[in-house]
Amino acid sequence: MNGRPEPRELLYEGKAKQVYACDDTDVVIVRYKDDATAFNAQKRGTVSEKGVVNNAVSAMLYAELEAFGVPTHFIEQLSQREQLVRRVSIVPVEVIVRNRAAGTFAVRYGVDEGLELDPTVVEWCFKNDALSDPPMNTATAVALGLADELQLEAMFEYAADINDYLSARFAVADLELIDFKLEFGIDAAGELRLADEISPDTCRLWDVASGEKMDKDRFRRDLGGVEEAYQEVWRRLRETQGLPLDLPDHDEAEFEHQHLHELDELDGDDAPGALDGPGGLDGLGAERPRPGERRD
Ligand SMILES: Nc1ncnc2c1ncn2[C@@H]1O[C@H](COP(=O)(O)OP(=O)(O)OP(=O)(O)O)[C@@H](O)[C@H]1O
Ligand SMILES: [Mg+2]
Repeated sequence: MNGRPEPRELLYEGKAKQVYACDDTDVVIVRYKDDATAFNAQKRGTVSEKGVVNNAVSAMLYAELEAFGVPTHFIEQLSQREQLVRRVSIVPVEVIVRNRAAGTFAVRYGVDEGLELDPTVVEWCFKNDALSDPPMNTATAVALGLADELQLEAMFEYAADINDYLSARFAVADLELIDFKLEFGIDAAGELRLADEISPDTCRLWDVASGEKMDKDRFRRDLGGVEEAYQEVWRRLRETQGLPLDLPDHDEAEFEHQHLHELDELDGDDAPGALDGPGGLDGLGAERPRPGERRD
């Protein structure tokens, strides 16, 4: 790329970020703001320097996830508040991964916050602010044309791998990853990539020693010390960068077996039509390297 890419037209302004076009139409610049919202924007405020922390945290974690084998939109951090990412068409299905009950999940099922969830729960939500991002199942996502089954399968597998990585990554920083939200998108080449951000806005993180909340719940619930908690998360991630992680072992043979079996089924008579081209199998198939098998 020649020189520093410059932000051109503002394509989108969300609650936490602005998205700018660049001369190269395959990329966008994301600018992180200090604005904070909760409860579907019914509560609004600002958190001083939040944009700087979230940009830094997200840039670090996306670079690490990419090295771990997860395709992401991340290209490079450009400044304190900006990063250059591949432009994707966002799949309007949010993926929520829950290791312990918290927030709306605890309310919905009438259980205590902190209840350990075994197995880990992965939920799909329709990314639609006007409808308050309602939860939905796979059939609903497919029937409404939001994603196809192969995309959802790939998103599910990536989410599990990302959970393994991030849980171990936050653990070395003495933080427990309680739950988090992911967004995926399809890039110009038709490849599914992890997009959006991973930060204390999108993860619940509890201090291992004290159980104290170190994330956006401090803002949602008026707990005070919001800026300090965000800064502390960043400080700990920075200090622990490069430390060995205690990642769970994967049963490789079992994984391959399951995956090939599922693809066999999809190759049969009832295979969906979209096996290639944008949104299809490109980049999603059984050939993708297992995260953790470094590809450098
Ligand atoms: N690589 C990318 N290419 C294009 N759009 C992206 C990319 N990564 C994230 N986005 C989108 O950019 C927007 C970021 O803005 P922000 O996080 O502030 O949105 P938001 O207020 O959460 O609203 P919503 O996500 O509901 O649109 C989101 O709509 C997100 O889906
Ligand atoms: Mg957002």
